Amino acid sequence: MFQPDLPQGTAEGTISLLFGHPDPSTLLTPAMRDALNSAMNSPQFYGAFQYGPEQGTRALIKYLVDKLNREQQLGVQTENVMITAGSTGALDMVTRLFAPPNSIVLVEAPSYADSLHVLRDHHVRLRGIPMDDQGLIVTELERILAELNVANDLPIMLYTIPNYHNPTGITLAESRRVEILNLADRYGFLIVEDDVYHDLGFESTVPSSFYALADGKSVLSIGSFSKTFAPGLRVGWLVADKNIIDQCVNCGVLQMGGGSNPFSAQVIAEFCSKGYLEPHIETLRAIYKQRCEAALTALSRYMPSDVRWTHPRGGFFLWLTLPPTVLASEVKRVANERGLNFALGEGFFIDPADGRHNLRIAFSFAALPDLERGLELLAQVIETVRRHT
Ligand SMILES: Cc1ncc(COP(=O)(O)O)c(C=O)c1O
Repeated sequence: MFQPDLPQGTAEGTISLLFGHPDPSTLLTPAMRDALNSAMNSPQFYGAFQYGPEQGTRALIKYLVDKLNREQQLGVQTENVMITAGSTGALDMVTRLFAPPNSIVLVEAPSYADSLHVLRDHHVRLRGIPMDDQGLIVTELERILAELNVANDLPIMLYTIPNYHNPTGITLAESRRVEILNLADRYGFLIVEDDVYHDLGFESTVPSSFYALADGKSVLSIGSFSKTFAPGLRVGWLVADKNIIDQCVNCGVLQMGGGSNPFSAQVIAEFCSKGYLEPHIETLRAIYKQRCEAALTALSRYMPSDVRWTHPRGGFFLWLTLPPTVLASEVKRVANERGLNFALGEGFFIDPADGRHNLRIAFSFAALPDLERGLELLAQVIETVRRHT
C-alpha cells in the first residue's frame, strides 16, 4: 500500500514550527484540481510529457511578463523571463554561471540557511552584512566594500531577500535599496534578489524591488510558485537582462534536459489563465496575516520580558532573540523532548556562533491551536533552560 511521505522535517506527534511549509489547507484546493483536470484534458498537454523549450513553458512566461509589468511596473518582455526548478534551481544556476569558485558573495547576516548551503556548494567565499530592523545595514555594507576594495578583492554579487526575509521576517527599507544599488554600481557587483515572498505581504504595499529601481540593470530577480501555489511542483522563475537570460538558457543543464518542469509549469499556467491565482493569493495573505497575528499575540502573552522578536509585515517567519544567558541549542534540545520543533539561529549565519541566542519560528505550517500551544511551550522551555543555566 502506498504510504504518503510526511512533509520534510516533520514528525508524528511533534508541533513543527521548523520549516516554511505552506499551510496544508492551501494545497490541492478545488481550483487547483480544476486546473489540473483541464490541463490534462487539453490537446496541448502532450507537451508536458516531452522535453520542453530551454527557457521554459511559453504560456507561463507570458503570464509572468504580464503580471510583473502590471503589478510592479517593470516593462519586461518574454526575453527577460525564464522558468526555473523552483527559486532554488535559479539560485544554483546563477551562482554556477556568474560566481566563479573563490569569488566573494555578500549575504545578509543572517540569511536563508539553504541558500547559504547552495552558495557553499559552488565554493564561493561568503561575507555577511549585519542587519537591523530595517534590513541590511548600508553603512556596514559600505565599510566592508571599502575594506575589500583596499584588498583588491571586491565581491561578485550580493544575495539578498528584501521582502519578508527568511529567517527574520524583516523588509528592507526602499531608501536602503536605492543606496545599495548605488554601491553596486560603484563597486561593480550583481544583485541577486530572492523575492519568493513578494506576493505574501499583509499590507497592500510592498517596496519597489531592486529590479524595478534599477530598471533591470545588474539585478537578477528570483520568484517562486512554491509559496503561492505548491512547493511540490518545483516551479520558480528568473527575471534579468536578456544577455543574462540567454546565458542561463544556454547552460549545460537546460540544453541537455530541456526547460524546467514542463509538466508543473503547464498546470500552473492553466491555473493562472483561469484567473485563479489572484484570488488564491488574497486568501493566502489573509491566512498568513491571521497566523502571524496569532503568533505575535501568543509571544506577548507568554514570553519572558527579556526575549525579543521581530514584527513581520508578510511572509512565513519570526525571529527570536533570547537572553544572553540562554543558549538556543539547549532550548531546542528540551523543546524537542517535549514535542516542539523550530529552527536554530546558528544555521542562518556564516559563523554559527553569531546565532547562538536566536531561533526562527515558521508560523506558516502548524495549525493555529498548535502554533499558539507551541509558543506557550517554547516560553516555558526558555524559563526551564534559564533556571538550569
Ligand atoms: C528566501 C527563500 N528562497 C527560496 C526558498 C525556496 O524556494 P523554492 O521552493 O522555490 O526553491 C525559500 C523557501 O523557504 C525561501 O525562504
